[in-house]
Amino acid sequence: MPYVITDACIDVMDRTCIDECPVDCIYQGDRKLYINPAECIDCGACEPVCPVSAISQDRKVPEEKKPFAADNARFFEVPLPGRDEPLGAPGGAGDLGRVGVDTELVATYEGSVST
Ligand code: F3S
Ligand code: F3S
Repeated sequence: MPYVITDACIDVMDRTCIDECPVDCIYQGDRKLYINPAECIDCGACEPVCPVSAISQDRKVPEEKKPFAADNARFFEVPLPGRDEPLGAPGGAGDLGRVGVDTELVATYEGSVST
């Protein structure tokens, strides 16, 4: 089960998690970061370093944050705004660089799903 980043990351984007990931699978949108479920090796190194506790294993995400757990996969599986193809599994966030756009859920987020 991969790790996921939930809504607490939105507009915070501390980015300490990126330094901890051994497979470089944490990608930067515009307001939030996303973990690629096809590339995450479930090591858990990113979870304790996030200052706002935005990261957890997907099966441990509380019910009210489940939409954001699923949204990590959507970032890679559905074409993002302004793009024709989904990102898929680029094989490294550092090489890809900042993506700069978000899923619709995150782009339109105003705090209503947060606890
Ligand atoms: Fe976001 Fe926390 Fe990483 S705020 S960028 S998930 S360290
Ligand atoms: Fe996945 Fe986090 Fe490790 S994104 S590979 S659990 S550092």
